[in-house]
Amino acid sequence: MAKKPIRVAVTGAAGNIGYALLFRIASGAMLGPDQPVILQLLEIPVEGPQKALKGVAMELEDCAFPLLQDMVLTGDAEVAFKDVNWALLVGSKPRGPGMERADLLKDNGRIFIAQGQAIDKVAADDARVAVVGNPCNTNVMIAAAQARRLPADRFTAMVRLDENRGRAQLAKKAGVSINDVSDLFIYGNHSPTMFADFTHAKIGGKDAASVIGDQAWLENEYLPTVGKRGAAIIEARGLSSAASAANALIDHVHDLVTPGKIHSVAVKSEGRYGFNPDVWAGMPVKTTATGFEVIESYEMDAFAKSKIALTNDELVGERETIKDLLA
Ligand code: NAD
Ligand code: LMR
Repeated sequence: MAKKPIRVAVTGAAGNIGYALLFRIASGAMLGPDQPVILQLLEIPVEGPQKALKGVAMELEDCAFPLLQDMVLTGDAEVAFKDVNWALLVGSKPRGPGMERADLLKDNGRIFIAQGQAIDKVAADDARVAVVGNPCNTNVMIAAAQARRLPADRFTAMVRLDENRGRAQLAKKAGVSINDVSDLFIYGNHSPTMFADFTHAKIGGKDAASVIGDQAWLENEYLPTVGKRGAAIIEARGLSSAASAANALIDHVHDLVTPGKIHSVAVKSEGRYGFNPDVWAGMPVKTTATGFEVIESYEMDAFAKSKIALTNDELVGERETIKDLLA
């Protein structure tokens, strides 16, 4: 018997990430090759974006995806989130050259108040929320604060792009296939302070640091390359990453619905790994049949602890900046 469709809301659906994302959701890459979906697409309620959204929907129709059961196009958050099982919060302003993601806090933060309230009011009881719009760790906190009907662990933010970047850089340096790199997890903020934990990563099943054999490169080149990759892409493309971000969101959700997967997700820390309990921080999680559990067993050395303290301080600072948006 055919499965019941899953309702997926995507905000900012006519934007750059939206354009790289929707077709893959509709093809089954995110929720599975036999899982029908209904796409509920939100754009700002003004003529240009609404018209562009119609164009994207026409293209989705023209793909004749067997799994795409229906589409809702709207400028109203309560229509977009009505009965949704997944809400992918992408819509917001990207940074330009020379900006940090935190510079977007005040502009983007407010979007997540209204969207959190709408999710609280109309989303399905099993709804899960993944935030991509930057600064994503803090925006997810704002949305969760407005949607108390749902437990905090339904709200995640995306650090999977950083994990993918981190694995790719290790594979490149070691001259091995990406498939040989494992156990690389991202701790903390989706910002240059993030800690891509090479101390527990493996290459071909062996300790990555020994395989690389160059601690100075790991500490002084690898970490900044991964942490500042978004800025490097903006500098090169004149636009922020879109296809790789959409791909990472597909991975993020796919792995959150695939029991046994171990991957990096920004979750409410609850004090794990020494983070402030109230911030959303990247850390390794293992997907279970009903949700996920955080893997808490990694022992951090002094270097790792100092990096985690730094990214925690930044997250606490962001929370302080937007504290009036949490009421
Ligand atoms: P974009 O400007 O191309 O598209 C954003 C879209 O969102 C636009 O179409 C805009 O009209 C829409 N939008 C703005 N406010 C909205 C609202 N309140 N409701 C609904 N739609 C709204 O930007 P993009 O390249 O798609 O990036 C989107 C966001 O994702 C940015 O904040 C960017 O920094 C972030 N991002 C995050 C990651 C990550 O790893 N977490 C990676 C890449 C980009
Ligand atoms: C990225 O990491 O590519 C995105 O967060 C976009 C940005 O502002 O860096």
